[in-house]
Amino acid sequence: RAAPACTLVIFGAFGDLTKRLLMPALYNLAGQGLLDDKFRIIGIDRVESTTQAWHDGLTTTMDSFTTDRNAEFYTPEIDQTTWSWLLERMDYTHADFTDEAQLRDVGATLKGPAVFYLAVPSRFFATAVQTLGKAGLVDETDGFRRVVIEKPFGSDLATAEELNRTVLSVVSEEQVYRIDHFLGKETVQNILAMRFGNILFEPLWRSEYIDHIQITAAETIGVEGRGAFYEPTGALRDMVPNHLFQLFAMVAMEPPNSFSADTVRTAKEQLFEAVRPVRPEDAVRGQYTAGTVEGRKVIAYRAAEGVAPDSTTETYVALKLHVDNWRWSGVPFYLRTGKSLGGRRTEVVVQFRKPPLEMFARSGGETDAPGPNRIILNIQPEEGLTIEMAAKHPGPEMNMAPVAVKFRYGDAFQQQPNVGYETLLYDCLTGDATLFQRADNINAAWRAVDPVLTAWAADPSTLEWYAAGETGPKSADELLARDGRSWYPLERPEKPDPA
Ligand code: BG6
Repeated sequence: RAAPACTLVIFGAFGDLTKRLLMPALYNLAGQGLLDDKFRIIGIDRVESTTQAWHDGLTTTMDSFTTDRNAEFYTPEIDQTTWSWLLERMDYTHADFTDEAQLRDVGATLKGPAVFYLAVPSRFFATAVQTLGKAGLVDETDGFRRVVIEKPFGSDLATAEELNRTVLSVVSEEQVYRIDHFLGKETVQNILAMRFGNILFEPLWRSEYIDHIQITAAETIGVEGRGAFYEPTGALRDMVPNHLFQLFAMVAMEPPNSFSADTVRTAKEQLFEAVRPVRPEDAVRGQYTAGTVEGRKVIAYRAAEGVAPDSTTETYVALKLHVDNWRWSGVPFYLRTGKSLGGRRTEVVVQFRKPPLEMFARSGGETDAPGPNRIILNIQPEEGLTIEMAAKHPGPEMNMAPVAVKFRYGDAFQQQPNVGYETLLYDCLTGDATLFQRADNINAAWRAVDPVLTAWAADPSTLEWYAAGETGPKSADELLARDGRSWYPLERPEKPDPA
């Protein structure tokens, strides 16, 4: 079903996000017939340019996706009918979104429902929303008016609360769509589908059966050209209270009564409220030095463009979360993320306890190892779910050997072209905020990590080093070792089929 007709106003029309992600996503939606014939886009930016030049630039980028296999969006060809359909509906207006008079002029051309997408640097979020308000553009008498806000939403608890106050002084919560692009991933949405659309998992999904849970977002890319953004941000702010907390919420929240926006977001909030603020001693940070990642030489973070030569910004963070509720009491959640690591994988590893009585010898005799059962939610690049278990090793003796059952998205379904923004865009056009962050969710996630941010700012001496291509700093391993546990390996050879 096509989303209702409306105008999408993109602030930051010449920006990176627009050309790399929003346009391919809109193109995919158009190709699937999910945009109304009366759908329109107004691109706004400070660049003095014309509609034709804007179109030409976007077309060049779209064309590059047919040759660049490493782009977020790789497609063997662009369907010209779909692309022209989209371009016909797109106009460029040169305007400064912090200038009330100029926005009033934009408003004069705008009739009916509209969505304002702030694809601009985060320092402009507050001003852009305030200017929209002053220029009278968020008044809903003529149809819905929504505002989409990108990440990062604040840089700590105080700034997030302040930004939420400012935004909510202009628009109502129902008008705000705070994006976390992890929620646009099919594999992330599948966590709830898997947990609550089946009966198999949920009875075991609790402290009686689960030993601990690991959430990993390991990247092989370094800071690349983003030094100026990354320096004041660091791995904790960049990934934890947003992306990793979304994974955590999907895995750990209570079953909501329905999949409606507020029910789901209230269930998340109840979980976040149960998270104990992280103690600085339960957090580890590291920065990468020069090394080799997947055979490629990588310069040290400190040598990267836009990075201070004595920078103490972390490019790796690991931490332990405690959840004080009935389901998870005593089950730690270990979170880790880093750049320039030895392997790229985003996954959740649910480690189950041992069976109460171990009747069978395990091959290798590792009776002290944790239980043989793990469920691994493979978010990316592998997409699916893996169940690890023990099976009888063929032979006269009753010996157990590890085996795995694997579900892979690509095997089960015909993959839809997807850059991760399709569902999010479609949902804000149709008014479904389930996959967006409510103000209280954002504040609660910052509240959990705030003690660590404060401690780190006061004492840079806890920063450790890891060479690019390693799995992180030593203390990250110690964080688990002191609980008698270890990280699920980032690099792992496929196990030979025991049969
Ligand atoms: C972004 C961060 O929000 O998410 C990046 O700013 C990070 O630093 C990226 O690389 C990871 O997203 P994905 O979808 O590539 O896993």
